[in-house]
Amino acid sequence: MITLIAAAGENNELGKLGYGNNALWDLPDDYQRFKELTYGHPVIMGRRTFGTLTDILTGRLNIILTRNPDFVAIGAETAQTMQQAIDRAKQENPDIFIIGGGEVFKLGIGLADRIELTRVHSKFPDANTFFPEFSEKDWRLEKSIEHPTDDRHKYSFSFQTWVRK
Ligand SMILES: NC(=O)c1ccc[n+]([C@@H]2O[C@H](COP(=O)([O-])OP(=O)(O)OC[C@H]3O[C@@H](n4cnc5c(N)ncnc54)[C@H](OP(=O)(O)O)[C@@H]3O)[C@@H](O)[C@H]2O)c1
Repeated sequence: MITLIAAAGENNELGKLGYGNNALWDLPDDYQRFKELTYGHPVIMGRRTFGTLTDILTGRLNIILTRNPDFVAIGAETAQTMQQAIDRAKQENPDIFIIGGGEVFKLGIGLADRIELTRVHSKFPDANTFFPEFSEKDWRLEKSIEHPTDDRHKYSFSFQTWVRK
C-alpha cells in the first residue's frame, strides 16, 4: 500500500520554502502521529523536503528523490524516479509512505491508495508550497478525528484518512 502523509491548511498550504524552517505551524500531536504511522516503514521524500530536516528520519528507510545522480545523504538512499523509489521501498516493506513535499505529492497522488491528511483549520497566506487538489469523486473520507486548540496547539485540525474509491 502506498500512503501519502501530509499536513495542509484549508487552502492546501504545506509550507513556505525559503523562510526559516519552512513550518507554517507547530503541532506536536501531529508530529507524534506522523512518527507513529511512519515508524518502521520506508519514507520517500523530495530533495527539497530532505533539505528542511535536521537529520534523517530514524527507524525508517529514507529515500530521497532527486534528478542529481551525484546527490549523497548519509544514512539515506536516493532515487532518480518515483518508480525507482517505490520499487526500492517495496523491497523493505509493502507499506510505504510518501511524505512530501508539494512536487513529490503531485507525482505520488496518482499512485497512492490512501492519504493521511492532517487538515489544519486555518489559512496561511505566506505559503508557497501546496498539496495537490483531490476530488471526492475519486477519494472517500474513511475517518476523521478532530483535535481542538489547546495550550500546545494554536490551531485546531482533523486527522483525515482518505481511501481511493
Ligand atoms: N506540511 C507537510 O505535510 C509537508 C511535508 C513535506 C514537505 N513540506 C514542505 O514542502 C516544501 C518542499 O516541497 P517542494 O515541492 O518545494 O519540494 P519537494 O517535493 O520536497 O522536492 C522537490 C525535489 O524533488 C526532486 N524531484 C521532483 N520531481 C522529480 C522527478 N520527477 N524525478 C526525480 N526527482 C524529482 C527534485 O530534486 P533535485 O532538484 O535534487 O533534482 C526537486 O527539486 C517545504 O516547504 C517543506 O517544508 C510540507
